[in-house]
Amino acid sequence: MAKIKEITLKQLNPRSFIDQQIQELRRTVGNSLAVNALSGGVDSSTVTMLAHRALGPQLKTYFIDHGLMRAGEPQRVAALFRKMGVPVTLVDGRQEFFRVLKGKVDPEKKRQAITDAFYQDVFGKLVRTSKARFLLQGTIYTDVEETVAGIKRQHNILAQLGIDTQKAYGYTVLEPLIELRKPAVRMVAKALGLPPSVYARPPFPGPALTARVIGEATPARIELVRQATAVVEEELARVKCFQCLAILHEDKVTGIRNGRRDFGYQIEVRCWDSQDAVTATPTNLPFPVLTRLAKRITAEVPGVVSVTYNVTAKPPSTIEAV
Ligand code: XMP
Repeated sequence: MAKIKEITLKQLNPRSFIDQQIQELRRTVGNSLAVNALSGGVDSSTVTMLAHRALGPQLKTYFIDHGLMRAGEPQRVAALFRKMGVPVTLVDGRQEFFRVLKGKVDPEKKRQAITDAFYQDVFGKLVRTSKARFLLQGTIYTDVEETVAGIKRQHNILAQLGIDTQKAYGYTVLEPLIELRKPAVRMVAKALGLPPSVYARPPFPGPALTARVIGEATPARIELVRQATAVVEEELARVKCFQCLAILHEDKVTGIRNGRRDFGYQIEVRCWDSQDAVTATPTNLPFPVLTRLAKRITAEVPGVVSVTYNVTAKPPSTIEAV
């Protein structure tokens, strides 16, 4: 495993980092084609813009709609990049992803299923038919650390686990952000001219809403958590926090609605204060904000009878549930 050295925020000069990476990408890719998958997160957005600057028409950018994104996200992200002159191809992969997720309840099996569907099936096929020799990825330093430490396998980590992508999938992976932590990536994103909706965007996990469904991620359960997420993000939009989210629990609980027993779903709300996601504490939300969240979620998300708020710090909790 190659040792990767971090470029700290103090050491980073965004302009010269961008220039260096552009030169490096041009040198490595030469006259070949490169592809990348854009998810709208700060890492993949930064890689997309960096590679677009470096490679222009030699870069093909895909947005894979795996059906696990938040409401309206695929269309919104593709439109934003097109507006900035980056051609993005939207690919509908919903069926494939839900097919591999079917029946899977174990968090690591869910992650593995998404990784395989992404690299071998949907995106892998696109890469192979495009004849691209290079795949660009937004892997960052923290992904490497957490994966190597065995805490959670981030879905974009392969080489660090000793997986030869050339052999396994038929292409070489390039990871221009691998020496940076998130705050440094945000500085690079800003220097590349990306808007605040990208460079200041709260983190969102690679496996998307699957990381927020405990148990099987069926289309219906993903839709439930998607609706709850929309309420949480809307209600907490003005709260200063690192990240806020909704989780769908596996167990159902007894509730009461219109004077009748209603055996329904439980949503857990999490809202975090953190610097770097390595440690985090729950945000001290005012009680009226919490009760408003509970009222709206139980009224607007079909079948939800219980809303709770997580008050546990990371560690021993983690930010996402899965
Ligand atoms: P955890 O849940 O490990 O999350 O405390 C740390 C930060 O990483 C973001 N994130 C992910 N988390 N799997 C995860 O579990 C992923 O693939 C992933 N990608 C990003 C997460 O949202 C939190 O900010």
